[in-house]
Amino acid sequence: VTHAALVPVMLAADARSVRIIDQRRLPAEFVERELHMVDDVIDAIQTLAVRGAPAIGIAGAAAMAIAAQDYTMVDARTALVNLRLIGTRVAAARPTAVNLRWAVDRVLMTAARVTSDGAAVAAAIAADAQAIRDEDLAMSAAIGTHALALLPDPAVVMTHCNAGGLATAGLGTALAPVYAAHAAGRGISVVADETRPLLQGARLTAWELHRAGVPVTVITDAMGAAYMATHAVDAVFVGADRIAANGDTANKIGTYALALAARAHGVPFYVLAPWSTIDADTPSGEHIVIEHRGADEVTHVAGTRTVPDGVAVWNPAFDVTPAALITAIITDRGVHRSPFAVGPA
Ligand code: MRU
Repeated sequence: VTHAALVPVMLAADARSVRIIDQRRLPAEFVERELHMVDDVIDAIQTLAVRGAPAIGIAGAAAMAIAAQDYTMVDARTALVNLRLIGTRVAAARPTAVNLRWAVDRVLMTAARVTSDGAAVAAAIAADAQAIRDEDLAMSAAIGTHALALLPDPAVVMTHCNAGGLATAGLGTALAPVYAAHAAGRGISVVADETRPLLQGARLTAWELHRAGVPVTVITDAMGAAYMATHAVDAVFVGADRIAANGDTANKIGTYALALAARAHGVPFYVLAPWSTIDADTPSGEHIVIEHRGADEVTHVAGTRTVPDGVAVWNPAFDVTPAALITAIITDRGVHRSPFAVGPA
């Protein structure tokens, strides 16, 4: 890949801080911030300074590595008891993306294998947090390779929200094959949904694709069906926050409507995600906890009130696309077609 990869979250070598790209400020400003406290990382996750399922998993593991630095002088058992309590808070920062809970549980399991002292616990968590990041990078690349094989040349891909470099350690999930196609010199262009209400598509997806030289057209969320009715679209590629065992998939609100439009127009609809986004403990979509966010995200546009004061608002951050509308799920392990039946990892 020719353009410099984005690094939305990076744990410092001494595991005392984490550097993030503050995605709330894009595209107006590219601002990086250094976070030193667990609560600062939790706040960054909740306010979407760091966002996207794999990236918040990486951030959650980094938060645990920072937390572990406070327990280097105690025994391993005491360190672990305290870190488990902190882990509960970190994992609860956002409820829908399973990657966050998965990453926190994973580093705690790694920590539980250390019996010597708190310093060794901290070192083990830092190493595992780094490994989670490295593995995510490799998974992005594998997803890109598998999904690229599904695209014609040239290809038009429609996407929703941001499942690109800003949402992962590497080149994204949904955008990984787009970058792979671009790097291979193939014809590739993207139609990006604006993504109400926080505009991840307009602000982030359009920003990172444009920066990489990939042609991108932004449409508002309501335009997807009309776009498909009037233009050729080869595939819809979206990311996922949680995939239930039966293939039902939670992703950014608006994904379900896009899947319905794709089905109506005969456009293949693909979900691209690392294997760790599949939650074998969640049998189907109705069991996925959907995050609901503040009304002000809907009542105000860029600080200006656009909904009359006192009017009710419904603001789920995610919806569930039924497995029946998904042509295939593409993970780092390959292309999984319906019927989806996912066993334990
Ligand atoms: O609320 P966000 O911006 O964190 O939502 C992000 C999404 O819905 C992404 O599509 C998903 O996390 C996959 S990112 C590779």
